[in-house]
Amino acid sequence: MIIIGGTASDKIALDLSVELDVPLAETISKRFPDDEFYVRINNNISGEHAVIVQTTYPDNNIIELFILQNAAKEAGAKKITIVIPYFGYARQDTKFRDGEPISAKAIAELISLNANEVITVDPHKEYILDFFKTTAISCSAVSEIAKYLKDKNIDMLLAPDKGALYRVKTASKIINCEFDYMEKTRIDGETVEIKPKKLDVHNKNVAIVDDIISTGGTMAKSIHELKKHGAKKVFVSCTHGLFAGNAIKKLTSAGCDEIISTDTVQSKFSKVKIVPCIAPLIN
Ligand code: R5P
Repeated sequence: MIIIGGTASDKIALDLSVELDVPLAETISKRFPDDEFYVRINNNISGEHAVIVQTTYPDNNIIELFILQNAAKEAGAKKITIVIPYFGYARQDTKFRDGEPISAKAIAELISLNANEVITVDPHKEYILDFFKTTAISCSAVSEIAKYLKDKNIDMLLAPDKGALYRVKTASKIINCEFDYMEKTRIDGETVEIKPKKLDVHNKNVAIVDDIISTGGTMAKSIHELKKHGAKKVFVSCTHGLFAGNAIKKLTSAGCDEIISTDTVQSKFSKVKIVPCIAPLIN
């Protein structure tokens, strides 16, 4: 087996090679003057099980994955496993309106062309795994996020909506604290309404756990409501920290005490490593 890291996930690839005690391929990459991407796998991987690690966000990282897959196939890899720490486009998982694509399906089908199996982390909806035309499985970062939060004196874990309640239920068993959910109504891509129901958060340290922070709208509204109801500290945590636009400013202005993300999308908030979740799935 050999691990091959794309530029979006080079640190995870390194962690994975250490965790599994298998070599990390040397890749040479550059951009041509017209900005097209070039990559070369500088190892003999003929007959090897190649594990390519690459988050498919933002768009240029999808192209990089496609050509890395082709490089592995052309080099004669006997098996190609694709690890996608964050699978972008997952939220367009259906035709919400006539004429729209199912973007998650479009990307999944293309990745499947040169893949024997796909492993991803906390996909937005589990059923998108069926869009892949090869074996696709997922793991969850919730336990690792909970281990990080365990030292933060958390009194209550909250999901931003009822659909995400299962995540905080799992995490609460590790932290040993109460858990609940808020009521979220999405108005449009950037606006949500959050009601904390009748939660008693007065003087409590609260952590919100979500799969994605994108614009930060969901979390900012939640923080605002929780602080209004007397919460002492509010931590926000997610698997995939996209932090689009002025998301960080929105979170800090709302009174967030700490922002926590895993490293599926690398940023300065990537405080939780994802490799302990992924490694056991690779064989
Ligand atoms: C929605 O269903 C997801 O779980 C997240 O709550 C959402 O993607 C967060 O987006 P934003 O940060 O833009 O509010």
